[in-house]
Amino acid sequence: MKTVLIVFHSMTGGTRQMAEAAAAGASTELEVRVRLLAAAETGPADVLEADGYLFATPENLGAMSGMMKDFFDRTYYAVLDRIAGRPYTTLVCAGSDGENAARQIERIATGWRLKVVAAPLIVCTHAQTPETILCPKEIGGYDLGRCEEAGATIATGLALGIF
Ligand SMILES: Cc1cc2nc3c(=O)[nH]c(=O)nc-3n(C[C@H](O)[C@H](O)[C@H](O)COP(=O)(O)O)c2cc1C
Repeated sequence: MKTVLIVFHSMTGGTRQMAEAAAAGASTELEVRVRLLAAAETGPADVLEADGYLFATPENLGAMSGMMKDFFDRTYYAVLDRIAGRPYTTLVCAGSDGENAARQIERIATGWRLKVVAAPLIVCTHAQTPETILCPKEIGGYDLGRCEEAGATIATGLALGIF
């Protein structure tokens, strides 16, 4: 059975909801095992045993979140040259931008020689003030549906042997 690993970090809940929606989408593919793991709890063994990946991060200070970067720092060289060719996609929860977080993950995935199977999905919460930025987030149904589709795409591609 193939495994999809969804690694996420979230401070105010937006990315968590996106990652959970992607996990729900991936779980519709019964032939695929879905693992939804917090970045802080994910290590090289989790990356190695998966067949495809979904990386989900907030954009903080123009970059992926520190906890997500910590995940890549801890795992990058431990799995380098051992996961080449596996499929991945990226989810970013941002206030108003998100492009650089997506670009950073793309660079790391290129180093791992992963195969991108969908463009990064960026959801903007439009929080602008310190108060709204620090508030718990609620991602709308339309965007959660897009995250579900991203999860389903990876899982179905793996199940069918397309990736
Ligand atoms: C310290 C900090 C820095 C942020 N920097 C950015 C940024 O550079 N670009 C952006 O679009 N959003 C930025 N945001 C907004 C977050 O991306 C947004 O609140 C998002 O919902 C965070 O995801 P989360 O709910 O999963 O924590 C920032 C938020 C915080 C707390």
